[in-house]
Amino acid sequence: MKKPLKVTITGAAGNIGYALAFRVAAGDVFGPDQPVILQLMELPMTMGPLGGVGMEMEDCAFPLVHDVVLTDDPKVGFRDTDYALLVGAKPRTKGMERSDLISENARIFSTQGRAINEYASREVRVMVVGNPANTNAMIAAANAPDLPRERFTAMARLDHNRAIGMLAKKTGALPGDVKRMIVWGNHSPTMHTDLTHCTVKGQPAMGLVPEDWYREVMVPTVQRRGAAVIEARGASSAASAAASVVDHVRDWFLGTPEGDWVSMGVHSDGSYGIQEGLVYSFPVTCKAGTYQIVPGLEVTAFGTERMKVTEKELQDERAVVADLL
Ligand code: NAD
Ligand code: LMR
Repeated sequence: MKKPLKVTITGAAGNIGYALAFRVAAGDVFGPDQPVILQLMELPMTMGPLGGVGMEMEDCAFPLVHDVVLTDDPKVGFRDTDYALLVGAKPRTKGMERSDLISENARIFSTQGRAINEYASREVRVMVVGNPANTNAMIAAANAPDLPRERFTAMARLDHNRAIGMLAKKTGALPGDVKRMIVWGNHSPTMHTDLTHCTVKGQPAMGLVPEDWYREVMVPTVQRRGAAVIEARGASSAASAAASVVDHVRDWFLGTPEGDWVSMGVHSDGSYGIQEGLVYSFPVTCKAGTYQIVPGLEVTAFGTERMKVTEKELQDERAVVADLL
C-alpha cells in the first residue's frame, strides 16, 4: 500500500471546501490507490460546522481516508502536509470585483505562507483558490522563502473549463473534444481566452466560430462568468470551483494528457514577455508534481495587447500588497 499523502484544505466548512473535501476523499484527485490523511482547517468560530463535516466524512467510510484532522491551528493543519489547498477566504458578493477582496484576504495568505514555510513537507505543493487568487499565491510564496516558488500555484482552471464548456456548446461538440485551450493572465475581468491553438475534434477552433463571436461574445463572457454566477445564484460558484480544483491538482500530481495542456496560474519566468515573478496564468504541461510553461507559442497582435492589459492589472495588485511581499 502507498504511503498516505497529507492534504490540507483550508475553509473546509465553506461552500467550495465542503464540495472539495469529499472528492479528495473519494480518490478523484490523487487516484484510486492513493490513501490520504485530510487536514481540514477552519477559523475558530467555524469549528462547529467543521465538526459536522468530520462526522459526514466518517459516515462515508471512504477506504482511502486514513485519518481526518479538524483544526483551526495552522501549526496542526499544515504539519508535514504534501498538498495545501488554500480555499479559505472571503468570497465577493454582487457588485464587487475580486480585487476588492485584497484588503480582507491578502493577510490570510501571508500568515499561511509563513506557516507552510515552517511546518509543511519540504516537497509541499500549494494551490491558492481564495481571491484574488493570483496575487494571494504570490503573497503566500513570498512568505515561504525556504520553499521554491514553483510550488505555489493559483487556480485558473475554472476559467479554462468555462471556456471549454462554452466552445463545446457553440460548436455542438463535447467538452472532451476541445484541446489546447488557453486562458492567460489574472483570474479577473481582464483574463484573456485564446483560441489560436485550440482544436475541436482536431479542427482549428478559429475556423469553426465567427471571429467576432470569439472576440465580442466568448472573451467577455468567460471574463464575467464568475459575476454572472453570483448574480444568478446569489453566491459565488462552488461546485464548479471545487471540480476545477480537482482538475488542477490531479493534473499537477498525475500529469496532463499527452498532446494537451492546461491553464494554471504560475510564477512567470519571463515567458511571453510577462514580467518575471508575477503569478500569471499560462498554458502548462504537468508531470509528477512539476509543470512546464508551454514554450514558443505564436501569439496574435490581439492576444499580445490583451495579455499586457492583464499583466498590468497584476502589477497594480502587487503594488497594493507590497508590504506583504
Ligand atoms: P465561503 O465563505 O463559503 O467559505 C470560506 C470558508 O473559509 C469559510 O468557512 C471561512 O470560515 C473559512 N476561512 C476564512 N478564512 C480562513 C482562514 N484564515 N483559515 C481557514 N479557513 C478560513 O467561500 P467559498 O465560496 O468557499 O469561496 C472561498 C474563496 O474562493 C473565496 O475567496 C472565493 O472568492 C474564492 N473562489 C475562487 C475561485 C477561483 O477560480 N480562483 C473560484 C470560486 C471561488
Ligand atoms: C469565480 O470565478 O466564479 C470565482 O472567482 C468567484 C467570483 O468571485 O467570481
